[in-house]
Amino acid sequence: MKYMVTGAAGFIGSHLTRQLLSEGGEVVAVDCFRDYYHPELKRANIADLVKNPSFKLSEEDLSLKNMSWLDRAFDPAEEILVYHLAAQAGVRKSWGEEFSQYTRDNITATQNLLEWSIKRGNVKNFIYASSSSVYGRITDLPMVEDKTLPMPDSPYGVTKLAAENLVRLYSRNYGLPSVSLRFFTVYGPGQRPDMAFSIFLEAIRTGNPIRIFGDGSQTRDFTYVGDVVRGLRKSSECTDGRVMNLAGGNTLHLLEAIGILEEAAGMKAKLEFLPVQPGDVQDTFASTELLEKTTGWKPTTPLIEGLRRQLRGRI
Ligand SMILES: NC(=O)c1ccc[n+]([C@@H]2O[C@H](COP(=O)([O-])OP(=O)(O)OC[C@H]3O[C@@H](n4cnc5c(N)ncnc54)[C@H](O)[C@@H]3O)[C@@H](O)[C@H]2O)c1
Repeated sequence: MKYMVTGAAGFIGSHLTRQLLSEGGEVVAVDCFRDYYHPELKRANIADLVKNPSFKLSEEDLSLKNMSWLDRAFDPAEEILVYHLAAQAGVRKSWGEEFSQYTRDNITATQNLLEWSIKRGNVKNFIYASSSSVYGRITDLPMVEDKTLPMPDSPYGVTKLAAENLVRLYSRNYGLPSVSLRFFTVYGPGQRPDMAFSIFLEAIRTGNPIRIFGDGSQTRDFTYVGDVVRGLRKSSECTDGRVMNLAGGNTLHLLEAIGILEEAAGMKAKLEFLPVQPGDVQDTFASTELLEKTTGWKPTTPLIEGLRRQLRGRI
């Protein structure tokens, strides 16, 4: 099978690409190595993959209109499966000046890829990486796809919801097979350096305090990256445009999670409490019933085990 993975050098995209190659697939990996975090970390994510003859890297920017490079990457007659993970990630940076980068990489790039997909045809499925950020500040938990009204609390969430809606529109109007998966706080080896566990682990290692925005009572539904990759693979057969939560079922208060992190690292953390940041939501907790019923997927990695693997740097 031939696959396209966008954002393939990123945290989740590189794990997915490794999995597809291990299944004997051929992957066209698209990534323009944005400097949201150091591109060298992205090169390191795929260092073992570039030697694989079934891996082809296109260092192209999906937000630009010209997509002829993508036509050349595939034989017109072959069926392809598109995993669209490329995005400008992160809630906090999405305010102010930076917002235009989010509209380009999250909305325009998605629309370009959708247009390319319907024109090309032969796209077996378009699998979109959406986010729990589309929900915003919800008190009536868990978040259920067809019951909880998405009301993002950050510009990032607005762009992810806009792109998710674009995928739905192209499915409904042009018959493009698609599925969107809303990921909840993904962690594991290679986690983005701006994400909480990466920052906390670095602080513990260097003896610096962990900075907590708020009082630490906020909860998150932590999802191990290996479980996300399995969810992506299992959803590939689902082509009716549905939107499903993909979450780990490890909903914990931040302070409890830090306790588990200390246990995994075998070291004590120093804590510093700071004001809540704009766009940060208090709680996330997903119902994953739809994904489980549709695909048989279940998360299997307990937080302590996932954190040990993140510490070891191996999945
Ligand atoms: N990590 C999480 O907890 C999480 C949670 C919810 C949703 N998501 C979504 O999952 C996807 C992957 O997230 P991640 O954490 O691996 O992020 P990441 O930043 O590590 O990976 C995204 C990759 O996309 C690339 N990219 C950005 N704009 C591009 C463009 N215009 N053209 C080509 N490549 C481009 C970047 O260079 C980067 O390598 C994103 O869509 C993100 O919104 C992630």
